[in-house]
Amino acid sequence: MHRNQLDTPSLILDLDLFEKNLAAMRDHAAARGKKLRPHAKTHKCPEIARRQLAAGNCVGVCAAKLSEAEKLADAGIGEILVTSPVTAPWKIARTGELNRRIAGLQLVVDDPEQIRLLAAQGTRERPLHVLIDADPEMGRTGVSFADAPELGRFAASFPTLVLDGVQCYAGHLQHIKSYAERAAESTRLMSAGAHVFRTLASEIPSCRIYTGTGTGTAPADLGIPELTDIQVGSYCLMDSEYLAVEHGGPAYAPALRLVASVISCHRPGLATIDAGTKALYVTPGAPPRVIENGTIRTDIAYDWSFGDEHGRLTYPPGKVTFTPGDRVELVVSHCDPTVNLFDEIHAVRGGEVVGRWPISLRGCCR
Ligand SMILES: Cc1ncc(COP(=O)(O)O)c(C=O)c1O
Repeated sequence: MHRNQLDTPSLILDLDLFEKNLAAMRDHAAARGKKLRPHAKTHKCPEIARRQLAAGNCVGVCAAKLSEAEKLADAGIGEILVTSPVTAPWKIARTGELNRRIAGLQLVVDDPEQIRLLAAQGTRERPLHVLIDADPEMGRTGVSFADAPELGRFAASFPTLVLDGVQCYAGHLQHIKSYAERAAESTRLMSAGAHVFRTLASEIPSCRIYTGTGTGTAPADLGIPELTDIQVGSYCLMDSEYLAVEHGGPAYAPALRLVASVISCHRPGLATIDAGTKALYVTPGAPPRVIENGTIRTDIAYDWSFGDEHGRLTYPPGKVTFTPGDRVELVVSHCDPTVNLFDEIHAVRGGEVVGRWPISLRGCCR
């Protein structure tokens, strides 16, 4: 099928750009002696996770929530770090089940009671593997740098748990526009996490992993000697939020697009497309961008003011014209939650649709 025959709105993935993105991040990390642990929360698609692993230099993948990890395991992926703490007792019971199903489950912990509950799910023969989640002064999850070593020692004291390492992910830094500012702040915080890691690694032989980092801070964090692997997510798809910030390493291409159709245009300088907030996640300050032949159209603006079913395009009347049925491609504002609005991604090579990949982790926010 030709991409122009796809019903709209649909998500498409330009395979040539996607593969270039995978290779660029793999090589960027490898050149600094680091591994990748790509985050599946970005794409929620097992086929993409498999291709990331096949591209090489990976130690596994990340999942944001336990339900995402369970779906990845269903798809045959066996090395999964769950990057948010699992705390509800019924979910903790499911960590035990998942740990029996796959060999490479790892969980982050930031609380003594959570550690006690998880310890009951492991056995001496099949322990649960945990990492201390260190809070990069963000306050979202994780224990403070000061308290992290003690919590690590506590986790390591259980014979049914193995302390694998330390996670530190500074989500609040990823989209700082100035690369110099982002790099300086990330180096400060990731160095503090590295100190926690060194302390624990010197006492506990199993503590060998220091993981963290996103697409925005990766170029800086790859310079942290203790960091073993990077949890980058958005680099493989990209979005307008990331295109708007300076990059300090390779430039990743917008491989993910939303294809939409013009359904009405009666006023000069204004066209309505069939993609509103139900098809394009709203990120204030970073609207989707119209892209044509690989170039962002700076003369056409998208906004969400027509609501959930419709999107508004505005442009200089006379200079740009649209007619009903015209197709437009947009770089989405934020890839993760936009992907979560669709059941499948259409993989395209040139003009042809060459694959329909289920977004099997769609809706897995538990
Ligand atoms: C814990 C964690 N690690 C890694 C990532 C990936 O970050 P990015 O999409 O900026 O590469 C995220 C994204 O939110 C995350 O929450």
